[in-house]
Amino acid sequence: MADVQYFAVATTADIEPGEVFIADVEGVQMAVCNVDGDFYAIRDACTHDGASFDQTDLEGPEIFCPRHGAVFDVTSGAVLGAPANAPVDTFPVRVTGNTIEVGIQQ
Ligand code: FES
Repeated sequence: MADVQYFAVATTADIEPGEVFIADVEGVQMAVCNVDGDFYAIRDACTHDGASFDQTDLEGPEIFCPRHGAVFDVTSGAVLGAPANAPVDTFPVRVTGNTIEVGIQQ
């Protein structure tokens, strides 16, 4: 099984509950999400047509694509609303002190 390497992306103070923070992690664009104090990361590319999630906020664990309105659950990547029909990639997140770190398989 591949090792997961973690990279610091932000501090907990940088991302308020309900906010989405876009980060480049080793060349992978990610949307790091604060869901009521818990952090999750998804690939910053809607599976419908590749839009970024940079111009959107969260409603609980739900993220809305700003381009055509697809809805995903950021905790699992699952599609909750059309027009997307494939889940979005998720990445492991851990908080060390006040630093948010996202994991990538090496
Ligand atoms: S690009 Fe996201 S719904 Fe179309």
